[in-house]
Amino acid sequence: MKKLILFASFGLLGFFLACTNTKTNEQATEKLKNDSIRKVVSVIFAALPAEAPNPENQVTAEKTALGKILYFETRLSKKGNNSCNSCHNLNTYGVDNKSTSPGDEGKLGGRNSPTSFNSALQFVQFWDGRAKDVEEQAGGPVLNPVEMNMPDKAFVEKKLASIKGYKELFAAAFPTDKNPITYENLKKAIGAFERTLLTPSPYDAWLAGNDSAITAQEIKGLQTFMSSGCNACHMGSLFGGSMYQKFPLFGDQKTWLKTEKADEGRFAVTKAEADKYMFKVPILRNITETWPYFHDGSVKELHVAIDIMAQSELNKKLTPEEITNIAAFLKTLKGNLSDEVKKAPALPGI
Ligand code: HEC
Ligand code: HEC
Repeated sequence: MKKLILFASFGLLGFFLACTNTKTNEQATEKLKNDSIRKVVSVIFAALPAEAPNPENQVTAEKTALGKILYFETRLSKKGNNSCNSCHNLNTYGVDNKSTSPGDEGKLGGRNSPTSFNSALQFVQFWDGRAKDVEEQAGGPVLNPVEMNMPDKAFVEKKLASIKGYKELFAAAFPTDKNPITYENLKKAIGAFERTLLTPSPYDAWLAGNDSAITAQEIKGLQTFMSSGCNACHMGSLFGGSMYQKFPLFGDQKTWLKTEKADEGRFAVTKAEADKYMFKVPILRNITETWPYFHDGSVKELHVAIDIMAQSELNKKLTPEEITNIAAFLKTLKGNLSDEVKKAPALPGI
């Protein structure tokens, strides 16, 4: 009897050993597979950088603190209805989730508000690339009649100077300037703040070697994203924001977006025939949160946007499963917004 028990225990032990062995083997194979995919994709989609520096506008704590206040400052709009945060809400991934946004007078703009998160890392700003960086971009909305509608730069400077708290805030942010409350410095402070709006995500954790940061289905989606050719345009650490491309390459824009009037994109800026229907390839970081999609915000659902992209840019019809997997992968580009980032600052009193 004793012998039998002993025999049975050895048998069991052997069985357990065999099991753990297959398990370790499977894990090892999985790890190898992960590592080889990682090697390929890290070249095409690098990890999100930790910083977005600009040699001409050093990011300092004082500047970003002022920039955040200005980002929330409704007194920078003529009627006091609007701040940057109205359309690029830091609680909702830097967008307002509207097709197009109402400005200070309630009038709707012509294009969808893109996210302010990670935006500083793009090669140019706006759907048509008409601003070279976030500093230049920040000067636009305040004076734009359908956005914040202030009459001119001097008016904005006077207004800021009339609010007591800004004197100290600008002096701290621009300590070597004799007269720091200027429109140029407003742009620099907001730009510096936007340079801090970076959102590393599970994709970056996976790229750094954490295999469990993303699931097998999500990896499948990443492979489909590449085998379909999405990465030809959506590349780099932002999965976009590094080039202009035509939308659409196949078919008609009005049909894809079900609209009356096509947007000619960059053509409106350059008047060059080659720029007709050219747009900056948008970034896909946090894309699950920044609906509705496309330059006119006409598409609410991500799977519809993916389907349109495959057909209009690649002349391919994806299966529902391929679309689901790509969408699952895109969710790994969603970062975490800290309470600190989301918190509205106290605005200086009169
Ligand atoms: C009324 C809504 C509204 C307000 C207010 C507003 N924006 Fe925008 N913003 C937009 C729209 C719409 C676009 C895209 C316009 C285009 O590309 O033609 C845009 C574009 C941008 C971009 C470019 C993003 C990219 O991916 O190209 C940045 C950055 C930005 N805004 C920051 C700001 C800042 C900073 C402020 C405050 C000074 C501000 N916005 C105020 C609606 C708004
Ligand atoms: C030939 C270049 C190109 C290819 C290939 C491409 N895209 Fe795009 N993508 C663009 C451009 C340009 C836009 C902006 C179109 C517009 O709104 O005018 C865009 C927009 C998008 C949007 C909407 C982004 C937003 O913020 O509204 C998503 C999502 C997207 N692409 C995903 C994909 C996927 C998934 C694939 C592969 C199936 C893909 N794209 C292939 C160029 C491309």
